[in-house]
Amino acid sequence: MFCRMVGYSADELLDRTPRMLFADVDEYESVNGKMNDMMAQDGLGMMETRARHKNGQLLDIYLNASYLDPQNPSAGMVVAILDITDRKRIERASRQMELQLNQAQKLDAIGQLAGGIAHDFNNILMGIQGNASMSMMEYQPGHPQYQRMSRIEEYVKRGANLTRQLLGFAREGKYELKTLSLNDLLWKSTRFFIETHKEIEAVFSLQEDLHPVEADAGQLEQVFLNLFINAGHAMPKGGRLHIQTANVTLQEADVAVFQVKPGDYAKISVSDTGMGMDAKTLEKIFEPFFTTKSEQGGTGLGLASSYGIIRNHGGIINAYSEPGHGATFHIYLPSSEKKVEKEEDSLQDKGLLRGTGGVLLIDDEPVILELGSELLTMLGYTVYRAENKEDALSIYQKNKDRIELIILDMILRGTSGSEVLKALRAVNPEVKVLLSSGYGLQGEVQKVMEMGCIGFIQKPYNFSDFSRIVHSALNPLKRPDAL
Ligand SMILES: Nc1ncnc2c1ncn2[C@@H]1O[C@H](COP(=O)(O)OP(=O)(O)O)[C@@H](O)[C@H]1O
Ligand SMILES: [Mg+2]
Repeated sequence: MFCRMVGYSADELLDRTPRMLFADVDEYESVNGKMNDMMAQDGLGMMETRARHKNGQLLDIYLNASYLDPQNPSAGMVVAILDITDRKRIERASRQMELQLNQAQKLDAIGQLAGGIAHDFNNILMGIQGNASMSMMEYQPGHPQYQRMSRIEEYVKRGANLTRQLLGFAREGKYELKTLSLNDLLWKSTRFFIETHKEIEAVFSLQEDLHPVEADAGQLEQVFLNLFINAGHAMPKGGRLHIQTANVTLQEADVAVFQVKPGDYAKISVSDTGMGMDAKTLEKIFEPFFTTKSEQGGTGLGLASSYGIIRNHGGIINAYSEPGHGATFHIYLPSSEKKVEKEEDSLQDKGLLRGTGGVLLIDDEPVILELGSELLTMLGYTVYRAENKEDALSIYQKNKDRIELIILDMILRGTSGSEVLKALRAVNPEVKVLLSSGYGLQGEVQKVMEMGCIGFIQKPYNFSDFSRIVHSALNPLKRPDAL
């Protein structure tokens, strides 16, 4: 019996020290010491430890030992060994499940709270925005009151940005379902990232015939991008990004915690070779506002909104990591019986549109400036960037023959879009300006548009729309070529 448990024959064990049966020498020494202490005190030693099977596999065992003659320990001892490997495995699994359940429940509860606040907050912001816009109409742009009002608008914009992400986390983002192929979508959204992060090598292992899923392409793109950006942050000196897809079947036990149905799922795994995370960090990453990058401008909303989006799709997202050993995120989305919809005429199917020429990007939001200029560079444009009115003007003055298009943020810190537009016009009355804004086409945005911008881009950018708008601004008549 014992021989079978540890894989050695009786002959092999005879006259050998028990040390060979332990997981490692230190463990043997410590177990031996503790058992002897216990036996000396109570006559009986009991403890759990690990043994090593002849084939190298670790076993969880329970030891129960007592001296043959309590008065004379050197006379030997009887040891009963129980193999508890299976029991321990089940215990560990159920502890893991409990942890996941706690985490899922906690995130759901915070989600509800966040959603409630975000809704009310959005309404409040709209009230502030409306009144600020009304007041601005009573003053000239140069007036101090006008400037104060535009400051207010700027803060409203930041608030709106925050509530939008919170709503995503609360699973209330708007979405439009299509039956789509995740392989295609991953390929599309990765391309932009890898082209702009040359220090990162991307490796794909995509399953052929991956189950189609019903999902909002834009939202999933957002989730993938959040994962890639985080991976990029975790690998500042470069590394490998592994993107994998697979068809999997989840059993009742796999999904019970997440309140999704067992069955067929498409699984996406994104791994990096970055710095990784410890268990404490890992426990909190999906919570809104949890960030270890606050000094670098992290908001802690990337993974929270990704979590909300995936859960809203009836899916599961989880993460594994160890410090120094990279991180892996797994996403499971329920597979669909339907056929992937070919979007023959849809604009998205045309993909990203290439172009050439100089583009000046003016935005005071570093993330937008960075992402936007990376995207434009990848598409083939020469990018100039400015964070404020002064930089924008001096760059434009120096390069006005090379800059063919300007993308202007509606509100820059301390200045309004209309002021910047006027100043640019003074340099070149024919300047082509695309206005970009987090708001729709109303109020102040409408006013600036009417001052003669050639187009409007709604933030946050959707890459394919963005590339299309820029392309058609520069090539009003030519038919775009797909990338
Ligand atoms: N790939 C990764 N490697 C290491 N840590 C990560 C990774 N992805 C996320 N994290 C951790 O999770 C935290 C939350 O991520 P996120 O919600 O995207 O917010 P942010 O990126 O703004 O900090 C990060 O601050 C980081 O500590
Ligand atoms: Mg992030």
